Amino acid sequence: MSKSGERLADLFDAAKAAQANAYAPYSRFKVGAALRTEGGAVFAGCNVENAAYPEGWCAETSAIAAMTLAAERRIKEICVIGDGEALCTPCGGCRQRIREFADARTLIHVAGPEGVRKTFRLSELLPESFGPGHLPA
Ligand code: THU
Repeated sequence: MSKSGERLADLFDAAKAAQANAYAPYSRFKVGAALRTEGGAVFAGCNVENAAYPEGWCAETSAIAAMTLAAERRIKEICVIGDGEALCTPCGGCRQRIREFADARTLIHVAGPEGVRKTFRLSELLPESFGPGHLPA
């Protein structure tokens, strides 16, 4: 396997391991996410639901929180895994959260239990996005 193929396999494995620990008793839809920073570190997260439904959050959000805690700030690629037939693409809010630490070329790999199903650039999922550069310095 190529180096980038091996790296993607590692990211998929980390996302899948995170999915196993998701807390999703209400939707029963467990999601895992794992991101690699530009420095090469991997951070994973899962969705965490709540009996007060709107208070739950997504797997991508958990992974971004873990990255932030480690003082890392740039996402190179992120893998999201969910079960079912449909592509488990990041929700709108998570696309914007990823955007904060990414650029148009950042890779978003969408996976099912069997492996990566499709890879997007952030620019495909969030075109013409608003980001930190829009704010005055
Ligand atoms: N969910 C994620 O964690 N990430 C996504 O990309 C899509 C949706 C979660 C939120 C909620 O806990 C469950 O999946 C059902 O929407």
